Amino acid sequence: MKDSSASDLIQNPAAAEPLLRVEDLSIFFRTATGEIQATDSISFSVRPGERLGIVGESGCGKTVTGLSLLGLLPRFMTRVTGKAYFEGQDLLSMRRARLRRISGPRIGMIFQEPMRALDPVFTVGEQISETLRAHVKIGKAEARARVIDALAEVGIPSPERRYDDYPHSLSGGMQQRVMIAMALICKPRLLIADEPTTALDVTVQAQIIDLLHTISERTGTALIFITHDLGVVAELCTRVVIVYAGQIVEDAPIERVYRSPQHPYTSALFRSMPSLGVRGVPLPSIGGRVPSLANMPAGCRFRERCQYAQPECVAKPALDTNEQERVRCFRAGELTLPGAVV
Ligand SMILES: Nc1ncnc2c1ncn2[C@@H]1O[C@H](COP(=O)(O)OP(=O)(O)OP(=O)(O)O)[C@@H](O)[C@H]1O
Ligand SMILES: [Mg+2]
Repeated sequence: MKDSSASDLIQNPAAAEPLLRVEDLSIFFRTATGEIQATDSISFSVRPGERLGIVGESGCGKTVTGLSLLGLLPRFMTRVTGKAYFEGQDLLSMRRARLRRISGPRIGMIFQEPMRALDPVFTVGEQISETLRAHVKIGKAEARARVIDALAEVGIPSPERRYDDYPHSLSGGMQQRVMIAMALICKPRLLIADEPTTALDVTVQAQIIDLLHTISERTGTALIFITHDLGVVAELCTRVVIVYAGQIVEDAPIERVYRSPQHPYTSALFRSMPSLGVRGVPLPSIGGRVPSLANMPAGCRFRERCQYAQPECVAKPALDTNEQERVRCFRAGELTLPGAVV
């Protein structure tokens, strides 16, 4: 875990007003067989300079949470309830045009597949310049200079030449750097990164994580980093929210979660982390699967897969708050669960 210049704020979170405050975010999809609920009353805050990891298995609702904040869910088939205050304004109740005006320059987003977000028929420089000029009134020459600076800042060599390259001529790692430059060009206060390194090989992945860390330290940009990988979160984040089947099950500073996870699901995620495995010994995976949205069990959603489950777990556990930490488990406090220190 790296030292953080934002650590004062993190150790004393009350010191800063949240930049983003999500309250009771529930996302529903209309399907041919009726409405299904993808997230259930998700609430969390991100403070200036904080780097929040959102972690959970596939299908837990990480991506839809990020997309909902930017109004990017398909409107005709989605119903979203709750609030998401960004700098005091509720993003969820805003009209889309206004949301785009606010979030475009102030919230950047990067995705897993840079090529899906980049347009193959324009050079990378033109695309970033276009994004900048959509929000800032400046001429083409000045925009070009700023884009070249941004390309240099994300570690792209010979940025003057790269400006005129088309996306397909760049490697995956360089494409992701271009996406980061584009997301940062308007100097946003919050960057949302959804699995931005899963498509990259391990070395390039480490470079991109390092870059995001450096940028957030240097500029104070807050980060929401969505991933399956608790190892990456340890490198990068100051705090982590663990989601399971559309609900938050644990939320705490990263050191605490690593040292002593309070939810059995969090502890199980550690046991299935590749970086903690012993070479040659198969990784234990979490038995069973995430329940289907159409058939969510009442009570604790992790119960069926939990080695610590007891009869009381058929009731629904609340997300208990203690100081700045939250956990959703009847047995929290009573169990001593293995964390990342093996
Ligand atoms: N347009 C849609 N219509 C119906 N269900 C959807 C739609 N989009 C997402 N879902 C469902 O919502 C749930 C949450 O999906 P989401 O993509 O947020 O998961 P995730 O946690 O990001 O998973 P992954 O780690 O695989 O990216 C999933 O069960 C998914 O099938
Ligand atoms: Mg996802």
